[in-house]
Amino acid sequence: MKLANKVAVVTGGARGIGRGIAERFNAEGCRVMIGDIDADGATATAKAIGEGCAALTTDVSTQAGAQSLVDAAVERFGRLDICVNNAAIVRLGLLLDLSEADFDAVMAVNIKGAFLTGQAAARQMVAQGGGGAIINLSSVNAIVAIPNQTAYTVSKGAIHQLTRSMAVQLARHGIRANAIGPGLIDTELNQDVWSDDPDGYGRLMARTPLGRAGEPGEIAAVAAFLASDDASYVTGETIYADGGRLALNLTLGPEERGS
Ligand SMILES: NC(=O)c1ccc[n+]([C@@H]2O[C@H](COP(=O)([O-])OP(=O)(O)OC[C@H]3O[C@@H](n4cnc5c(N)ncnc54)[C@H](O)[C@@H]3O)[C@@H](O)[C@H]2O)c1
Repeated sequence: MKLANKVAVVTGGARGIGRGIAERFNAEGCRVMIGDIDADGATATAKAIGEGCAALTTDVSTQAGAQSLVDAAVERFGRLDICVNNAAIVRLGLLLDLSEADFDAVMAVNIKGAFLTGQAAARQMVAQGGGGAIINLSSVNAIVAIPNQTAYTVSKGAIHQLTRSMAVQLARHGIRANAIGPGLIDTELNQDVWSDDPDGYGRLMARTPLGRAGEPGEIAAVAAFLASDDASYVTGETIYADGGRLALNLTLGPEERGS
């Protein structure tokens, strides 16, 4: 087991990719405290995962909410080794239309939440004597842009540099910081985002050489690697698990698409 006797916090772990990460970490011997604003979802997920997994209802976009998640993990499991900053939201809007409130809402969760939770986690890791791993969920949108996802795209670009900033500052404490940049992953977030665009999935597949959406478990596998000693010399990196999307220029024709 890659993560035996480790303790992790996973923000946004009630569903989707965060849930997949919580499940995989638990299977690798790690105790997990899920922090999610969705009380019922978080409780149900922790219950389904079972022993070694607990949940806290919290809003990680506030300092108190982020700190309470780290405190809950330490109180329940005695220490903290891994912090996964996964919680994020999308507010659709073109540059010419996007409201200040929607821009602020996305930044508060996606970037401030990762900063606050990562800061609280790193402080705990340093107080324990150092060592640990931080994993931030980025996106292919850190590199390329979707027109009506202005705020989300900006927030993921910021995650890229938050990760590097964390890595260069925390290395002296033996703490590594990396990010994962998924392409299209089959979660409720995407169902919400693309529900008004029946052609959206086809257009994304024309940009995806592997020809399919990814599964949360495929992102969780990358997270397990980055959290483990197998990645002991990896810090400040973003791994793009995107089915080849960023490698592709132009779009694929029908005969070039995968299965
Ligand atoms: N699904 C994809 O295709 C995809 C692609 C690239 C990147 N990502 C990134 O992966 C991560 C997870 O995405 P997902 O598809 O699983 O999303 P999701 O919407 O399915 O899950 C997000 C979770 O975060 C929680 N959350 C939202 N605001 C919160 C807050 N303030 N405090 C605590 N919890 C909060 C939600 O309740 C939910 O459980 C995100 O960072 C997302 O940007 C996803």
